[in-house]
Amino acid sequence: MKTKKNFIYNLKEFAIKNDVPIINDEGLAFLLELITKYNVKHILEIGTAIGYSAINMANLDTKIITVERDYFMYNEALKNIKEADLEENIQVLYADALEVEINHTFDLIFIDAAKAQYQKFFEKFKFNLNPQGIIVCDNLNFHNLDINEVSRGTRQLLKKIQKFKDFLKENEEFDTIIYDIGDGISVSKRR
Ligand SMILES: C[S@@+](CC[C@H](N)C(=O)[O-])C[C@H]1O[C@@H](n2cnc3c(N)ncnc32)[C@H](O)[C@@H]1O
Repeated sequence: MKTKKNFIYNLKEFAIKNDVPIINDEGLAFLLELITKYNVKHILEIGTAIGYSAINMANLDTKIITVERDYFMYNEALKNIKEADLEENIQVLYADALEVEINHTFDLIFIDAAKAQYQKFFEKFKFNLNPQGIIVCDNLNFHNLDINEVSRGTRQLLKKIQKFKDFLKENEEFDTIIYDIGDGISVSKRR
């Protein structure tokens, strides 16, 4: 572990205080287990926020390209990655993931950006996945909200997430398991 536990703790506190959505503890532990289990070296992350998940993943000696479209978040991430002394491991791209061109391939693609766009991210970035690689998506339980007790906008979002889960289940190219871990995490592998 390169980054001090205290630094990681402070990042998490910053996220909580400033309403920055980051992966929860259980989800993070699972993600880090996957990195070890699949011997992951190269990661593409869609949705950097303040760099919390990227910094944690980079501590397992991985190389990461992470994409963030929000300028404030992008700058916070750059600052935090520098402070964590992980600039050699993590490259942050300031871009909309649906518009950016990435030519590398990765062992793990972690999708953690706008939930309504998950299927588009999946279909775009599957071409960047190594043959034995995995695509991991977070927040598929979306805080276990009850569809009958939310605003119209959130209801639409929950429907989109359900549609994405159906897309994964029916997908002929990828086998997917959705784990009831963290906020609901899918792991997809090529058949
Ligand atoms: C849930 S947060 C990411 C949390 C981060 N992975 C972590 O766990 O520390 C989602 C981030 O994705 C960004 N985002 C949403 N849609 C995006 C897109 N199309 N391209 C790039 N970034 C996007 C948002 O600005 C937000 O900062």
